[in-house]
Amino acid sequence: MIERHYMSETPSASVANGAHLLNQIRQTWSIEAFDSKNAQQEEAQLMIKVGVVGYGVIGLRLATGVSLQKDMELIGVADVGPTLTIRALGERGMPYDFYLAKPENRPQVERAGIPISGTLEDLVQKCDIILDATSAGVGARNKDVYVRHGKPAVFQGGESGDVADVFFHGYANYGQGVGQQFLKLTSCNTTGLIRAVDCIDREVGVKNVVLTIVRRVADPGDYHRGLTNALKVDSVPSHQATDLMLIMPHVKATGVLVHTPVTHGHFISVNIKPKKQMSKDEVLKAFHRHPRIRIVRIEDGFQGNAAIFRYARDLASPHSDLYSIFVFEETVTIFEGNIIFGFHVPQEAVVIPETIDAVRAALRMQEIPAEGVGMTNKYLNLSQV
Ligand SMILES: NC(=O)c1ccc[n+]([C@@H]2O[C@H](COP(=O)([O-])OP(=O)(O)OC[C@H]3O[C@@H](n4cnc5c(N)ncnc54)[C@H](O)[C@@H]3O)[C@@H](O)[C@H]2O)c1
Repeated sequence: MIERHYMSETPSASVANGAHLLNQIRQTWSIEAFDSKNAQQEEAQLMIKVGVVGYGVIGLRLATGVSLQKDMELIGVADVGPTLTIRALGERGMPYDFYLAKPENRPQVERAGIPISGTLEDLVQKCDIILDATSAGVGARNKDVYVRHGKPAVFQGGESGDVADVFFHGYANYGQGVGQQFLKLTSCNTTGLIRAVDCIDREVGVKNVVLTIVRRVADPGDYHRGLTNALKVDSVPSHQATDLMLIMPHVKATGVLVHTPVTHGHFISVNIKPKKQMSKDEVLKAFHRHPRIRIVRIEDGFQGNAAIFRYARDLASPHSDLYSIFVFEETVTIFEGNIIFGFHVPQEAVVIPETIDAVRAALRMQEIPAEGVGMTNKYLNLSQV
């Protein structure tokens, strides 16, 4: 058992620490003096005043989350105009006040019937702390306002690292955030990842981690990113892993599979523990020698499945088919002696060569394996590129 534990304060200790912390925060950041004349007033003083700047996918959820905190008061939310989320806020009867970050958009906001409670500066002045969830990069500009008013702020993952004093995860490095003025959260993937890894780390310690992330490309309603929908997760081990063990019984395998709403190919990330160490160069050379494996570079424009699909069309191959799998060179790495790489699988065409091999074997057309696959490769025009 690792000697690291979750915070386990009693509620009363929490309240006492909360009062102390608020006092400290208000003193540190020149916020109005903490004054407790009686218990009721003290309780009221304990309500940290929070503002959310940027009321989009994350800001909306931050506002809800803050509203549910009994020791926090959501002073309001700021955005640049009558976005759909702001219009929905209006239709919900304005549970939170709205502050307009772009004064020139006042006419549009008024036309949408959204009451305006003030400017961004007004909101910042009223709050003890700001949660900035604006579009990536905007937070860094807003920071000037927070600095000017001496207010602490928490930025989201889209901001660059230098926007904050601390890169923060609630479980993994809480202590480093204590008392800091500017904190930046990890991104969505990283937050979930660290949550899980930290959990195991507390139990037994973690030496290394291997990930497979098939990332969603957009949030619901992100029309500018295309028309997208859900992922579906299969239980472990995926049939590909168990099938591999049937075909190669000397190899142990397991893995997770996530269905994504794309039609042009699969992406597989692999972590191989080899019996003998290989360098990255040796791995690349081995792939290069294989007639049914191609190495492509992200740098050259092969950013993923769609780029490869388009390339196949540009080649004018039959049905735009590609029989090879495509290893992305920039994903090949040696990590703690393990070999890691990611590759694209053109699902409609990849089985064709091996199926033809099967014909050759079944019919003893070639009894020597190298000769059998060699013939298939020859006729399918598969060779090293
Ligand atoms: N979407 C996710 O799944 C996700 C997950 C974790 C972290 N993040 C991060 O959260 C941040 C916000 O992302 P999002 O997905 O919520 O974006 P979003 O586009 O949904 O919301 C951003 C909001 O900020 C507003 N805005 C832009 N400029 C502003 C300004 N000057 N003042 C006030 N408001 C302004 C926009 O109008 C918009 O409503 C980014 O840093 C992003 O990387 C996003």
